[in-house]
Amino acid sequence: MEATPQLDPDLLDKVINLCKRRGFIFQSAEIYGGFRSTYDYGPLGVNLLRNVKQAWWRAMVQTRVDIVGLDAAILGPPAVWAASGHLETFTDPLVDCLKCKERWREDKINGVCPNCGSTQFTPPRAFNLMFKTQAGPVEGEGSTAYLRPETAQGIFTNFANVLSTTRKKPPFGIAQIGKSFRNEITPQNFVFRTREFEQMEMEYFVAPADAEQWYRYWIDTRLNWYLDLGIPREMLQLHEHAPADLSHYSKGTTDVEFLFPWGFDELEGIANRGDYDLTQHAKHSGVALDYFDQSTNERYTPYVIEPAAGATRAMMAFLLSAYHEDVVEGETRSVLRLDWRLAPYQVAVLPLSKKPDLEEVSTEVLSQLQPHFMCDYDVTQSIGKRYRRQDEIGTPFCITVDFETLNDRAVTVRDRDTMTQVRVPIDGLLAHLRNATGQI
Ligand code: GAP
Repeated sequence: MEATPQLDPDLLDKVINLCKRRGFIFQSAEIYGGFRSTYDYGPLGVNLLRNVKQAWWRAMVQTRVDIVGLDAAILGPPAVWAASGHLETFTDPLVDCLKCKERWREDKINGVCPNCGSTQFTPPRAFNLMFKTQAGPVEGEGSTAYLRPETAQGIFTNFANVLSTTRKKPPFGIAQIGKSFRNEITPQNFVFRTREFEQMEMEYFVAPADAEQWYRYWIDTRLNWYLDLGIPREMLQLHEHAPADLSHYSKGTTDVEFLFPWGFDELEGIANRGDYDLTQHAKHSGVALDYFDQSTNERYTPYVIEPAAGATRAMMAFLLSAYHEDVVEGETRSVLRLDWRLAPYQVAVLPLSKKPDLEEVSTEVLSQLQPHFMCDYDVTQSIGKRYRRQDEIGTPFCITVDFETLNDRAVTVRDRDTMTQVRVPIDGLLAHLRNATGQI
């Protein structure tokens, strides 16, 4: 096991500052003073977040025959949340500080009010984290609805639909990416814990006897996903929950934890949910949610192995682990060493000057690359400043179109990490970049 790396004590502030300054993440409703714990993803953030989700979808759905996708509704009737156990047990212990009256989640404050230092609190009471709303114009019992606090339940309620329409059989999975909402008592640490966030969840249905083996398989597979996308091994660890700490549905849970600036904390949970969810929904809905195995003539309720990740939280981890500072020609440069699959822009096309003949070739280069890579186009400031700007937002390749290009129809390709430059003919540029990104 490698030693835990020492992080720059200002890392969090530097990344938050970069996110705002360069257009990754903005405070929501900022012009009205901001809305606490909600964030908007700007032009760079939306690309990065999409790429995180795309990388997950590619690994979990596109490159597998045993997993299919789903996009279920965010609004749900109380019956779903009664069956899942969320109405009764999806709570956090809420306490009020008797001195300053601030409200806290009891299990996060170690008995001391983070606001005023008092140790006197009200007794804890269970606070349900679901957002309750009303569907339709008439208020009352019949119109109550909830915003989903996890994407998982939409998968369980569609189990029979997916089984009958896809003819999949265990072991098989259903994957979903989407927004979830939790009325967190103390949202904190930028986009780490927010009230509105995005999840990437997959429910993998297996024969009960195979559950333990698949649980181990998904722990390994999910850890490797983060490693493959560039998070160093020493910034990740696995944490298996003690039986007393398990959620109401879980027979076993292991978290993939990331070294955030405040220490190792949860990035993703992989749980063996047993047959809890399908049994509960079958009981409450009256619809059979089981599987008949024709090869053995056996009917059983599948067990579920669930890798549940946060897309917005993963994006934050990718940003934190990619942020570096190094000294180039006596100047400190900040660089995001993001994997090219995640980078908001993969290529930047930079004409050396605004002269029309250079811009004409540059536009031709841009059109050649845009169908294949997310590209930026920048003609402002000196070329050195433009390189720094692209380094800071993680663009792996800068293509410079200079006056020589007009004679030799070649451009300079600069690598973000090594800063080496090579001359490449325009006609071979796409193949060069595909090769450099391991696509051919
Ligand atoms: N279906 C199981 C489930 O939802 P969870 O551990 O509560 O499990 C899974 O959530 C993941 O969703 C977490 O590991 C985290 O990455 C993300 N997540 C949960 N609550 C969050 C919040 N308030 N803000 C941002 N991400 C959150």
